[in-house]
Amino acid sequence: MSTSTPPTETQGWRASLLWFPDSQIPQARHESDGLLVTAREADGIVRIQAIGPYRDLAAQHPDLPTTHWPGLCIAPGFVDLHIHYPQTDVIGSPADGLLPWLEHYTFPHEKQFSDPAYAHEVSAFFLDELMRHGVTTALCFATAHSESVDAFMAEAQKRRLRMVTGKVLQDRHSPDGLRDTDTALSLHQTEELIRRWHGVDRLGYAITPRFAPTSSDAQLHGAGEIAQQFPDVWIQSHVAENVDEIRWVQELFPQARSYLDVYDRAGLLRQRSVYAHCIYLDEADRHRMAEVGATAAVSPTSNLFLGSGFFDYLASDAAGLRYGLASDVGGGTSFSPFQTMHAAYTVARQNVGRPGISLAPEHLWWQHTAGAAAALDLDGQVGNLLPGCEADFVVLNPNATALLARRTAQTETLAEWLFAMIVLGDERLIAHTVVQGQSVSDNKP
Ligand code: GUN
Ligand code: ZN
Repeated sequence: MSTSTPPTETQGWRASLLWFPDSQIPQARHESDGLLVTAREADGIVRIQAIGPYRDLAAQHPDLPTTHWPGLCIAPGFVDLHIHYPQTDVIGSPADGLLPWLEHYTFPHEKQFSDPAYAHEVSAFFLDELMRHGVTTALCFATAHSESVDAFMAEAQKRRLRMVTGKVLQDRHSPDGLRDTDTALSLHQTEELIRRWHGVDRLGYAITPRFAPTSSDAQLHGAGEIAQQFPDVWIQSHVAENVDEIRWVQELFPQARSYLDVYDRAGLLRQRSVYAHCIYLDEADRHRMAEVGATAAVSPTSNLFLGSGFFDYLASDAAGLRYGLASDVGGGTSFSPFQTMHAAYTVARQNVGRPGISLAPEHLWWQHTAGAAAALDLDGQVGNLLPGCEADFVVLNPNATALLARRTAQTETLAEWLFAMIVLGDERLIAHTVVQGQSVSDNKP
């Protein structure tokens, strides 16, 4: 972690600006010479006070200590809707699909997170890597060990990040060392962790049943009861990712109408619940998720790598299902929001058996910033640069590589410019990541 000088009370940031005038609508605005004003408020959080053209705002803020980045662009910090920090060192493990990948690589690896020192080391690396890639908020899986949550929360708190995580609940079909051997204890630990961490600084807790096959009915229903007791905690899990997984769920829960229905019956489907993948949902599932305000975490690099399938954007839009983008590291192959947005575009072009669609670059960018924040119920707090948002942002350098410089210089519209960055971008495009008004990561070429 690299840190620079602590923030003063009120600061100005001058560069070009990219943001969403309405967090709910995927239409971006670009100001070629803009000013962002940030200040620490009474609760200790640094928030955006004003955004607009430099020529209009500068006069209203005389003597403002201002950082000027000519040629660079300030944009919202990215929000990752689904990622596993304990799988940082699992990225790129090949397997014949999800279930063998879990059995041969992921489950054995995750056993190590009972060791607090190891969990701290991986958390620290992971969070610094996220920031290097411009991701400032994530909904993140820990492992089945409470220690893995404590380590992650402590490292996120040290970095003053807004992060959400939770202890994984898995009391069956899991190896020794990862399985919750006492279901009641696993639920008790979840409650303890909520009380210890939820709402502390910018940290949040997510009740985290891994997926239906690795939880008993008792554990799922227990998790649903905790969710009822704590309506503002998040819920995260996986659903309808892979055809073998779905067959297994049908065998294990013959009474359920669908895979999604297993969670619904347990009280785990509601606002602030985020389900990764959502590939093999049917119309009733999509409508049900839309009705309760649940969210799909679209994870295209993971779905391509594991050969899981393709998220159906058209069917989701038709049902009014809320969604946003996720890396799903380590099934996913990259921390980079650019890689994820690029993969989402590619997936929508395929569109399973129907003519492909072309997602607009502003829409892709929104799915990974303001749209993802809205899906977490955090719109107006993160993922945008509107006044009142927390001061977490990235500074893009469109000249970071020779190819990016050539290509972006030849674009004529905002859409073309964003597309060039989505397709050609990697962490070199993130010149700085600013968290709470403090530069925390500088990618020097
Ligand atoms: N389903 C259950 N656990 C996992 C996991 O760790 N990764 C993915 N991609 N799917 C899962
Ligand atoms: Zn996942």
